[in-house]
Amino acid sequence: MKRRNFIKRASLTGLGLAVAPSIISCETETEKDKKAIATVTPVFPIVVATWNFKNATKAAWEVLEKGGASIDAIEAGCRVEEADLKNTTVGNGGSPDRDGNVTLDACIMNKDGGYGAVVCMENIAHPISVARKVMEETPHVLLAGKGAEQFAVEQGFKRENLLTEASKKAWLKWKEKSEYKPIINIENHDTIGMLAIDKNGDISGGCTTSGMAYKMAGRVGDSAIIGSGLFIDNSVGGATATGMGEEVLKTVGSFLIVELMRQGRTPQEACEEGVRRIVESNPNYTNFQVGYVALNKQGEYGCYCVHGGFGISKYQEGKQTYIKSNSYIKKA
Ligand code: GLY
Repeated sequence: MKRRNFIKRASLTGLGLAVAPSIISCETETEKDKKAIATVTPVFPIVVATWNFKNATKAAWEVLEKGGASIDAIEAGCRVEEADLKNTTVGNGGSPDRDGNVTLDACIMNKDGGYGAVVCMENIAHPISVARKVMEETPHVLLAGKGAEQFAVEQGFKRENLLTEASKKAWLKWKEKSEYKPIINIENHDTIGMLAIDKNGDISGGCTTSGMAYKMAGRVGDSAIIGSGLFIDNSVGGATATGMGEEVLKTVGSFLIVELMRQGRTPQEACEEGVRRIVESNPNYTNFQVGYVALNKQGEYGCYCVHGGFGISKYQEGKQTYIKSNSYIKKA
């Protein structure tokens, strides 16, 4: 009797090869199958990120194309947005909380399941790099507030004022009414979540944000919380989120998406299910945005969001592309 041997996507991981969708489940060990596997196009390295953060994906690509590790690409890419003073949703220049303090959240995950994060950290411009130091230099995974800031200074990061004049002006204007209404697709960007696979086929991810503008003091969103704003499993792939962090936290969105991919869903199917869980559990979904991007170990990616207007940037084979995401609520 002919032996049936089902190939699952994950079993091709070690080959570092793109897998045609048709090779999800098939008979193996025929000459035809061997040839098909041998001739599929390698797609690594690749980097994807939430929104049209093209300078960030370019910086990550520059690391990857030189043969650099995915974790270094992630840190380099995320730092670009953290340094951009015009970006009011990430890093230096981020919008403050309602008391006028800029507090930052970030996390990073590597191919070995390592995780490091900082939350509610003030006065340090590069939380993604501090998160990496937490992962690599401490016995812990998450440092908060003053402790995170103190650790950063001990590691050589310099204290600086992160509230720009423009952000201060906008905050003072907001204070006139003090209405807390998060804006959907704020300036068409928000948190940067980034996923990268290097030439060795190893995946890492990062996520960094100043959180919701004018949040309550001490509020922490999804971005730095493992499994919510980001999750990486080097045997499956990764996922990351942007938008209303409370909703992502309640559904542990990125972990859910990676687990769905582990069970055989494509990144696209998994992102759609992640959004569906949110909208089905919250009738208020018309009032907030959540967007996901996922990347599996074969270099297949997907994205999905609640409202239209979200998209992802991708760098692969030396070419940058912006991909508009489909949405649960179709844009009028
Ligand atoms: N997704 C960013 C936040 O909610 O803080």
